[in-house]
Amino acid sequence: MYKIWLDTDPGFDDWLAMLLLSANLDVTWLGVSVVAGNAPLAATYENALRIKKHYHLDVPVYPGCDKPLAAKVETAQEILGASGMSTTGEALPGVDIAQLEAEQLARQQRQPMPHAVDALIEAIRANPGQVTLMCIAPLTNIAVALQRAPEIAPMIKEIILMGGSADQGNHTAAAEFNIYADPEAADIVFNAGIPLRMFGLNLCRQLLVTSAEVQQVRALGTLRAKWLAGYFEAYLRIRSADGSVPMPMYDPAVAIWLKRPELFSFEPARVDIELAGRLTRGMTVCEFRVPRRAQANAQVAMTVDGPRAMQCMMQELLGTLS
Ligand code: RIB
Ligand code: CA
Repeated sequence: MYKIWLDTDPGFDDWLAMLLLSANLDVTWLGVSVVAGNAPLAATYENALRIKKHYHLDVPVYPGCDKPLAAKVETAQEILGASGMSTTGEALPGVDIAQLEAEQLARQQRQPMPHAVDALIEAIRANPGQVTLMCIAPLTNIAVALQRAPEIAPMIKEIILMGGSADQGNHTAAAEFNIYADPEAADIVFNAGIPLRMFGLNLCRQLLVTSAEVQQVRALGTLRAKWLAGYFEAYLRIRSADGSVPMPMYDPAVAIWLKRPELFSFEPARVDIELAGRLTRGMTVCEFRVPRRAQANAQVAMTVDGPRAMQCMMQELLGTLS
């Protein structure tokens, strides 16, 4: 069993990861902290609430940090669109944020809405040694929580994160977006002494989706499937206007590992975050010669059985779209 806290910046691939989490019966889902990333916080928080409402996710959602620790705000809106996720079809309907917040607070019998960092600290203190932090966004919320309450570090069972890369970047030649958006936060998290699994671009590029997966979703014919298929199709058009070039699955990689860990292999490494490089800021510098040259601080995902992992993802995903 896993007690999961999810930190996210929805984003279409975050949305898929959320649905996979909701389908995993071995997961107790404690909460969701939202952070600026794919789009500004206002957009990622609204996206998280839209997904929660329309896909019936029974989990509290909290707004978190709206800017990085030190870096300038960096989003992926240029690629993903103003809201952080685009569609070729009908937009996921909007929500009444105040009403959803009031309903959540009434269920929790608390007032007012806490900052996500405080809710995260509370959850870790209430479940010492049991919480797995699943981080699929810039690490600002996590770093602020560790700064505000350093005593929670030994209480965290593990951090499993989509971020970084053991080879090339995506947002820059050297850096992956989640790390690049807040390198100072990543530096704090990777040096907190918490067991950490890194699912980087080198791994995610072995998990490719094509129009076949979009058609599988669309063929279900339900309203939730139709909404998702439109965003899936737009995601697939990031690399090619006709969607003919496969796209990597980033955030779902972590959720698939939770379900089928045997499909993945890892190597221990010392991972350091470049903070000063003119061309390499945000790079995850992986030293695999451990312990000879350095002490490992992460298990870096290196291989995955892509076809079986995608089969698992689709099987779990389709079950959430009825
Ligand atoms: O580089 C991929 C990561 O950046 C994913 O988490 C995606 O959602 C974006 O946040
Ligand atoms: Ca993300």
